Amino acid sequence: MLSKKYPKEVKQILSKYPPEHKRSAVMPLLYLVQREEGYLTKAAMQDVAKIVDITETEIAALVGFYTLYHDKKEGKYRMQVCTDLPCALRGADEFMESLCGNLGIKVGETTADGFVTVEAVTCLAACDKAPMFQTQGPDGIKYHENMTVDRTMELISVLKKSGREAG
Ligand code: FES
Repeated sequence: MLSKKYPKEVKQILSKYPPEHKRSAVMPLLYLVQREEGYLTKAAMQDVAKIVDITETEIAALVGFYTLYHDKKEGKYRMQVCTDLPCALRGADEFMESLCGNLGIKVGETTADGFVTVEAVTCLAACDKAPMFQTQGPDGIKYHENMTVDRTMELISVLKKSGREAG
């Protein structure tokens, strides 16, 4: 149970909302689970649904809607490359294809060492700085703009060396 596993954090999150509006705590509770466990398990989503008194279907809809929530265990780092039209006009598709080729995976897949998952996402509000992506990992969310495949491979290498290897 979430409230048993992270009692202090759950209590603190709930204390920010009046009891009659506890459903507003759904987003920070989901974020707590994902930060601690890496992704949202079905059991954790059921726990959150019970805590805030909404249906599991509503939780699933939220998780499906927001690209920053994940319901599957994937790479330690997610590289979310914007391939929306403005970025595509600045070479995002070629960047993506070449990056995936270098990593030996297809879009949506995870490298064999479990370190990186590459995903295509829509606008991340850096349209004039494509190719661009955000990394989502143990150190939070970071933007990487005007990237090349070489610089991206270098970034992956630096992240691995910095002691954050997939575990
Ligand atoms: S279209 Fe790619 S960041 Fe906006």
